[in-house]
Amino acid sequence: MAKVSVSRLAKMKQDNQKITCMTAYDASFAAIFDQAGIQVLLVGDSLGMVLQGHDSTLPVTVNDISYHTASVVSTAKNSFVISDLPFMSYATLESTYENAAILMRAGANMVKMEGGKWLADSIKGLVERGIPVCGHLGLTPQSVNIFGGYKVQGRENKQAEELIKDALILQEAGIQLLVLECVPVSLAERVTKALHIPVIGIGAGSETDGQILVMHDAFGISAGFCPKFSKNFLLETGDIRQAVNLYKEQVESGQFPSAEHSFY
Ligand code: KIV
Repeated sequence: MAKVSVSRLAKMKQDNQKITCMTAYDASFAAIFDQAGIQVLLVGDSLGMVLQGHDSTLPVTVNDISYHTASVVSTAKNSFVISDLPFMSYATLESTYENAAILMRAGANMVKMEGGKWLADSIKGLVERGIPVCGHLGLTPQSVNIFGGYKVQGRENKQAEELIKDALILQEAGIQLLVLECVPVSLAERVTKALHIPVIGIGAGSETDGQILVMHDAFGISAGFCPKFSKNFLLETGDIRQAVNLYKEQVESGQFPSAEHSFY
């Protein structure tokens, strides 16, 4: 199998083939996901919650993401690896370039940034300098203190229209992938149809081009809380490799996420 590329992901969207993604933070799990054919691994700043035990992603540093990126890429032979630029690491153009370069040097194939139109110049600048970018809209956890909690976004008309405009601006600026988190199914469907780049959903229903889960949620081992939009694939299978295969099968067949894992 060849290494997954952005053009392969774009072709999957054109061919109506679902893209499967999972967060990964270490070499052992990355190897399991890679061997199962998961196309995209995200070294997410969710590691601040599921690995470090914080109640948000805000304490995560570029060094943390860089360390875990190097671990993941050591075994991710075929999967495409995206690394999160953590909170405030892309607040200025200069810090954006510097920190994105650190993650690319650690082995990332793309960096991910949370936010809307204010990121357009940073995205253009990164792409011009050879760094592919993934956007992230909807519930953007680095802004939890603005939202006042981890809440579904885009339920009101005005918010939904803004989000669609932001998605188009990010695409125009040069993102090649978009993560859409915790939005109603109808809004996710509109965004997915409006963009020519693949849209990867989490808590965004089954109409997106692909799905991502935090691996700890997919195995039901997150400390304390399992979000409504997630599913414990280990429960049915009792084996990690089989759980990953089941996740992949159910995403590809459109069985996951079902209505019980979606917002309306
Ligand atoms: O940090 C992360 O794991 C993420 C996913 C929830 C998409 O951004």
